[in-house]
Amino acid sequence: MKNKLKVAVVGLTVGGGHTANYAASDSVSEIVICDIDKAKLESIGDKHSIAKRYTDYDLMLETEKPDAVSVAVPNFLHKTFTIKALEAGAHVLCEKPMARNASEAEEMLNSAQKNNRKLMINFNQRFQPEVHTLKSLVDKGKLGDIYRISTSWMRRRGVPWWYPLENGLETCGGGALIDLGVHVLDRAMWICGFPEPEWVLGNTFRKLSSNEARERGFKNFNSEDMAVAMIRMKNGTILELEASWASNRENETVKTRLYGTLGGAILESVINPVKSKTNKLFIETNGELKDIDMDEEIIPKTVSVNIREAFLDAIINDKEVPCTPQQGLQINKILDAIYLSAKTAGPVNWQNLSAG
Ligand SMILES: NC(=O)c1ccc[n+]([C@@H]2O[C@H](COP(=O)([O-])OP(=O)(O)OC[C@H]3O[C@@H](n4cnc5c(N)ncnc54)[C@H](O)[C@@H]3O)[C@@H](O)[C@H]2O)c1
Repeated sequence: MKNKLKVAVVGLTVGGGHTANYAASDSVSEIVICDIDKAKLESIGDKHSIAKRYTDYDLMLETEKPDAVSVAVPNFLHKTFTIKALEAGAHVLCEKPMARNASEAEEMLNSAQKNNRKLMINFNQRFQPEVHTLKSLVDKGKLGDIYRISTSWMRRRGVPWWYPLENGLETCGGGALIDLGVHVLDRAMWICGFPEPEWVLGNTFRKLSSNEARERGFKNFNSEDMAVAMIRMKNGTILELEASWASNRENETVKTRLYGTLGGAILESVINPVKSKTNKLFIETNGELKDIDMDEEIIPKTVSVNIREAFLDAIINDKEVPCTPQQGLQINKILDAIYLSAKTAGPVNWQNLSAG
């Protein structure tokens, strides 16, 4: 493989961040951008002095033959755009969620394997210093056996109205759960080594956003604005998951808590109305209970890597990508199980799920 890659980015809202990282990378020789929105093409193109700008994705792939593509378009396009790029010979970094459901995710995984290309899912929270530090502590056994995990991203008010939310269950695959829940589910599963689920029980709600959706002209706003689930793993671990775009609470918080036999941990970022962080460990050593402030004592000593650099590094050095499509599929499968549990008003047995 070459040591500098020609990279394309399709979808330039969140893809604007991908483009900025590629523009700053020593591993990128050339950037091509694509969006149907000409204003975005111009503003991102001008900002990073990118000459190659396309409104037609197929034409871009055929003409430019990029080594790698960042897919940052709405969820309903993840599968087709990813598979087209893989079939055109490119490696792909696909935004989260991997797909709208596990069966689409499985097709993407199969295509990556068939075309012998790398497919990575943009689970960027894994690259936050506190998340990857906690993962390495858990891997080293510092917290003992983890037997309970709670993970949540709860907003007071924050429906992403710019998404294609007309019939959002179809276009996005769901609402707050697949948009925000996917991040905190992935980070919790990753920290704990992806335990195998056994039972999934959950529910979804659309209680606060329907009026605003109507006022904004959405005729069929069917996304959930809150979801809650409990997942029992085969090893007995319980994972509790919460996500909301709108709920009556004090703030917007992203939080993961672990309970282990040797220690516990909390990672909490309050985003709104006032930003703050609490990243702590709660350890018992020789009968003494100790609180450790991760930000003061541990995180400054750890090194973090940018997710886009990790993708490029995996291609150039032929390594396994750090956020694998198998993990992306597993996450989509859990989300499917939660939606199914909500629909059937009962627990879902993991063994009875078909895709994956
Ligand atoms: N990792 C994260 O933290 C994060 C944050 C926000 C969004 N996302 C994900 O990124 C994806 C995009 O989200 P967003 O907020 O940027 O959405 P968005 O709707 O604001 O942007 C999508 C972009 O894709 C373009 N687009 C749509 N159809 C296209 C087509 N056929 N060809 C080329 N371009 C097309 C749109 O014009 C738009 O510029 C979603 O999957 C979302 O879940 C990830």
